[in-house]
Amino acid sequence: MPDLPRMSLPDALAQAARITQHQIGLALDGRTGPVPDAMRYAVVGGKALRAFLALETARLHDVDAVQAAAAIECIHAYSLVHDDLPCMDDDDLRRGQPTVHKRWDEATAVLAGDALQALAFELLGGLDCADTPKVNLIITLAQAAGVRGMVGGQAADIAAETANVPLTLDQIIALQAGKTGALISWAALVGPRIAGGDTAPLQRYGDCLGLAFQIADDVLDVTGDAAVVGKAVGKDSAAGKATFVSLLGLDGAKRRADDLVTQACDALSGYGHNADTLKDAARFVTARTH
Ligand code: IPE
Ligand code: IPE
Ligand code: MG
Ligand code: MG
Ligand code: MG
Repeated sequence: MPDLPRMSLPDALAQAARITQHQIGLALDGRTGPVPDAMRYAVVGGKALRAFLALETARLHDVDAVQAAAAIECIHAYSLVHDDLPCMDDDDLRRGQPTVHKRWDEATAVLAGDALQALAFELLGGLDCADTPKVNLIITLAQAAGVRGMVGGQAADIAAETANVPLTLDQIIALQAGKTGALISWAALVGPRIAGGDTAPLQRYGDCLGLAFQIADDVLDVTGDAAVVGKAVGKDSAAGKATFVSLLGLDGAKRRADDLVTQACDALSGYGHNADTLKDAARFVTARTH
């Protein structure tokens, strides 16, 4: 394939954020009240990495994925709104702003999360592609978000706080692959799934990226500055969370994340320069400060 025109990573992330907010704004048009207001609030201010992955892998396959990009950010935003609730991580700050249950109340946060999850599937249903890849994307997103994916990982994360025996490395890898990896991998597979192309290289990329991403999140919880990260830090060890840092130490965790970024980039070698922005995204995941 000839080299496609491409954007810098910061521009591509900013565009992914704009597209996501526009699509969600359209879907909620005319809806007033605390729940739709909280839904709009919850999808603003993030890095939009997952939307970017959907759009960029779609660009690589010459297909459109706007609705899929908005859908994955809805699921991600819902996961954060619920993750911050007092019954889970009990956080007051998210993306430098009060968390949804602080800005409104717990019932609004639960309902806004629920409605964002439903909206994701509504948006995906509106994707402009053939029925077979669309159904495949709907089923795989349901799996990535559910007990086999994000919810399963969140449950293991909460259970580990009170476990008597520390988790093994394999158990932490499995936990993080569900909690964070499943949504990131799904986003990275949007392009080949819509186009009916080979999913193997982007599956490898997404799996490595997802794990590297959560390791970097755990490292930031130890080394980050709350004013820059936009959320509380120092919470994981205080809560007895099972993280790569708790098992491998800070340097071991950083080395592991760097190895995963190298593996993620290597997985894309077959795409030549057309995958350069995806490689930049992999490097950004461990270099980021927020
Ligand atoms: C934070 O995700 C939660 C994790 C899965 C580690 P992000 O760091 O992508 O959050 P935003 O969307 O940029 O705020
Ligand atoms: C949450 O992981 C991942 C989700 C599925 C929401 P964390 O609890 O580590 O995320 P932060 O640090 O609050 O963003
Ligand atoms: Mg959590
Ligand atoms: Mg949390
Ligand atoms: Mg964290």
